[in-house]
Amino acid sequence: MKNINPTTTKAWEKLTKNYNDTKHLHLKSLFNSNPSRKEKFTINFNDFEFNFSNNRITEDTLNYLLELANEVDLKGAIKAYFSGEKINVTENRAVLHTALRNQNNQEIVVDGINVMPEVKETLLKMEAFTNKVVSGTWKGYTNKTITDVVNIGIGGSDLGPDMVVESLKYYKNNLNVHFVSNIDGDHVQEIIKHLNPETTLFVIVSKTFTTQETLTNSTTIKNWFLEKATEKDVAKHFVAVSTNLKNVREFGIDSENIFPMWDWVGGRFSLWSTVGLSISLAVGFKNFKELLIGAFEMDEHFKNTPFEKNAPVLASLIGIWYTNFYKSESEVILPYTQYLTKLAPYLQQAIMESNGKSVDRNGNQVAYQTGNIIWGSTGTNSQHAFMQLLHQGTKLIPADFIGFKNSLYGNKEHHKKLMANFYAQIQALAEGKTKEEAHLDLKTQGKMDEIETLLPYKVFEGNKPSTSILINKLTPKTLGSLIAFYEHKIFVQGVIWNIYSYDQFGVELGKELAHKNLTKL
Ligand code: F6P
Repeated sequence: MKNINPTTTKAWEKLTKNYNDTKHLHLKSLFNSNPSRKEKFTINFNDFEFNFSNNRITEDTLNYLLELANEVDLKGAIKAYFSGEKINVTENRAVLHTALRNQNNQEIVVDGINVMPEVKETLLKMEAFTNKVVSGTWKGYTNKTITDVVNIGIGGSDLGPDMVVESLKYYKNNLNVHFVSNIDGDHVQEIIKHLNPETTLFVIVSKTFTTQETLTNSTTIKNWFLEKATEKDVAKHFVAVSTNLKNVREFGIDSENIFPMWDWVGGRFSLWSTVGLSISLAVGFKNFKELLIGAFEMDEHFKNTPFEKNAPVLASLIGIWYTNFYKSESEVILPYTQYLTKLAPYLQQAIMESNGKSVDRNGNQVAYQTGNIIWGSTGTNSQHAFMQLLHQGTKLIPADFIGFKNSLYGNKEHHKKLMANFYAQIQALAEGKTKEEAHLDLKTQGKMDEIETLLPYKVFEGNKPSTSILINKLTPKTLGSLIAFYEHKIFVQGVIWNIYSYDQFGVELGKELAHKNLTKL
């Protein structure tokens, strides 16, 4: 990949000027001066409509952002990313979560080996195992069928599967799936206290199989299991997902029960791999496959679509625009469905662990802003919690509104109200309310005496940016595409910021100190 300081590009210079020329423009006037603004800045892809028109950009801004993408050779970087080049330079690894959902017969070569046959074989193993457990053919040590599954993992070995299982609750089968992550013993206890060891399957997920939280929780749970069962019963109740086969075997897991992973899959991008075993168990392998297909379709869109019509590319460039020119520090994720309640925490790891970096690809300290703070919650709950700050606070916080044309249970009355709020928030943020409009409101309400004191508080400046992602329906496939959209956004921003997005050395120091503290304590 090229190694270019983005602030030295010609496009950056043009963007700086464009920012000074346009920062005073109000979204209302941008819409008034261009009746086809919505169409101009909207991208339709399969069941998705990405509407970027409520962002503080002009056609010139977009052109300069696209020039920036070309100047840093985004095209070349995308090719390197998909073809298995070792773009995770600091760990000397390829970044190939896209290979895990690759649906064509193209070879993907890492260190001279085509990884696709192994990927496919592993998927077959997942499918066979899932089918046995879901159908009840897989029996526990007292010959009972499995009713509960516990995923033991943390970070990428927890957040992705947990988020997807929650998001696809509607598609769930008879198995109850639980997640244990925190090393807090109370967390473990709260989960296992309701479980029966005879009917519970434990999936230990750890890429490295060295993570303190996961190993401690797994040991505690195994000991709890052995209070009732014996060592030889472990094979019927414990399976593991890891790259570290030696440590897994030492833990006492049967070789047959190990699901392999690869070092070219980063933890926070691993839900498509065997790390997604608990997803496959919760919703069945067919739905897991649909999730992969949805992601693959987004991969194809990202790989093959010209940048001006490429949803992840535009989202990334607009993000750069706010971070580096408007100096915004955070982005809020607002899904208008309760199913996506865990999307923001998942994206926090994916985005912040990837692009929370301050050293560039030359080993130099960057002199510009990189990764943003990600936060969010579901609409309409967020409206009654933190949206006040977006509407009338002092900070510029670009928002992603994620809405669905159809609900899953089909309650039209509720859905109409939910979506009325979705559109209302986007409009209120963009348009605001002028002094004159606020004045008229107070007058209509008969508050003539209070107008003078209340008026300043009733004005909404507006001009607050947002992107809306409107999706036909929440399905395994559309969820797969949505997650892949954000994954590619991370990649593009990392390329432009000239940082390494795929290591996470920043979490190591705390781990080292915790180990030292442990001996002291
Ligand atoms: O501490 C951060 C991290 O390395 C994450 O990147 C990863 O997802 C998590 O820990 C868990 O790691 P493992 O799967 O190796 O247990």
